[in-house]
Amino acid sequence: MTAFPPDLLRDVQRRRTFAIISHPDAGKTTLTEKLLLFGGAIQMAGTVKARKSARHATSDWMEVEKQRGISVTSSVMQFEYAGHTVNLLDTPGHEDFSEDTYRVLTAVDAAVMVIDAAKGVEAQTIKLLEVCRLRNTPIITFVNKMDREVKPPIEVLEEIESVLKIDCAPVTWPIGMGKAFRGVYHLLHDQTMLFRPGEEHAGGETELIEGLDNPKLDTMFPMEMPPMREDVELIQTASHPFDITAFLAGHQSPVFFGSGINNFGVREILQALIEWAPPPQHRDAGVRMVEPAEAPFTGFVFKIQANMDPKHRDRIAFFRVCSGRYSPGMKVQHQRMGREMKLGNALTFMANERVHMEDAVAGDIIGIHNHGQLQIGDTLTEGETLRFTGIPYFAPEMFRTARSRDPIKSKQLQKGLKELGEEGAIQVFETLTGGMLLGAVGQLQFEIVAQRLQTEYNVDAIYAPADIHTARWLTFPDEASQRQFEKDQQMRMAVDVDGNAVYLATNRYNLELLIEKWPKVGFHATREHG
Ligand code: G4P
Repeated sequence: MTAFPPDLLRDVQRRRTFAIISHPDAGKTTLTEKLLLFGGAIQMAGTVKARKSARHATSDWMEVEKQRGISVTSSVMQFEYAGHTVNLLDTPGHEDFSEDTYRVLTAVDAAVMVIDAAKGVEAQTIKLLEVCRLRNTPIITFVNKMDREVKPPIEVLEEIESVLKIDCAPVTWPIGMGKAFRGVYHLLHDQTMLFRPGEEHAGGETELIEGLDNPKLDTMFPMEMPPMREDVELIQTASHPFDITAFLAGHQSPVFFGSGINNFGVREILQALIEWAPPPQHRDAGVRMVEPAEAPFTGFVFKIQANMDPKHRDRIAFFRVCSGRYSPGMKVQHQRMGREMKLGNALTFMANERVHMEDAVAGDIIGIHNHGQLQIGDTLTEGETLRFTGIPYFAPEMFRTARSRDPIKSKQLQKGLKELGEEGAIQVFETLTGGMLLGAVGQLQFEIVAQRLQTEYNVDAIYAPADIHTARWLTFPDEASQRQFEKDQQMRMAVDVDGNAVYLATNRYNLELLIEKWPKVGFHATREHG
């Protein structure tokens, strides 16, 4: 085995790259902000929050996106904590952007799952966890809002286990809830951390009481302690003790209870990230596994953000470094295009500014100015031919046809849609009968695309709902069956931006019948980029 450069190995081991996943309103923005506050990246609560509230309506969202830099700095946040460099990747909260979210999850090594203790496991969380499971991403669970009247904690755990099919290992356990929330008991440290509501200071020390049998606890909380001790006894016999191997394999999640808004339980999450979450791991690059501490530089694009600067159609490609070390001005090989490219002026992202990146290793995210040469899923290397796999497209669930109001601008519409499709803003299909079809996971995507076609490409288009239920990417055992299938299903066939064959299903029933009829044809609800 080749030895890795020691400085690179050391720097890689210090990286933690993660995302926060949750259903809207569970408290992701609040937790993000508190993590940044504890990490010293921001001085005051409110910075991230202000940005979110400005994003609520579509029109506001567009405005915010236009303000150069704001959205980009919020996409990736890097900070130092306890001798580690932590990269927190933002996942767009609005469910219409879930496709983007899925791709962000391919670029992290761990995730923090926020559950609203009153609502339990919600729809978006289920979807996101399914994506994490594709790569066995280790999950740390934060059960939030314990300062409210919530579900009994045992019920929350049972729900996570049964709905999300992941074992829970409680690490902290709450004493009381709502107005009677007193703190949490740390099962591994045998200490109780007392809760003081409304403390907005990250630096404030939490009061600790040693041992669960400490009579001090009974004096302070005579009502809450007996049922809490019963719970702890039950979970210590009935639930799983924390097991780092099961956690790293994505089978078990350590669970923490707290209240993000009150800064309570946040430090424990950071500590778990540093102590337990994995540093950057090896990655599948098709021909071989790439080790994070090997010297040659590699990585892939997982997200493209447009409109950084509308005047210049500025786009930033977010690139996850998978091995080696970035240095400004370095030359790399663009694998899909098969040509050399210079990486000048890559950006890094602090909490509220973007600055030129001087040095980046595996786990770090760099922003590359993109003038159309980079697409989602693109791999860059220092020469070796390889391609990172596993960056997904999901079958859209909403479809619209698009036609330019002014026929002279049809070419312009095609160009715009092609570019927006490559960027991942929307999925674009061309039917075998020559029509352009837009596919989205969420309604808001259509509105944004319509607006961008108008402002960036000067195309006014007419959009009409299409009678399509879903799409499936097709794979065929041989060319003969492909020809036969295409002939048989001509009216329902299309190709995506990369020329892959797609079947457009009018309803679920027809799709099921077709799958039965063509057992050798592969019908895929997701497709990998590249
Ligand atoms: P999101 O990003 O997951 O959508 O959630 P966000 O952090 O914005 O939180 C959603 C709501 O839940 C916010 O209330 C927030 O203040 C509240 N919240 C977050 N953490 C806690 C907690 O630990 N305890 C309690 N009681 N509430 C919490 P909001 O009314 O929508 O906004 P705001 O007016 O409070 O800013």
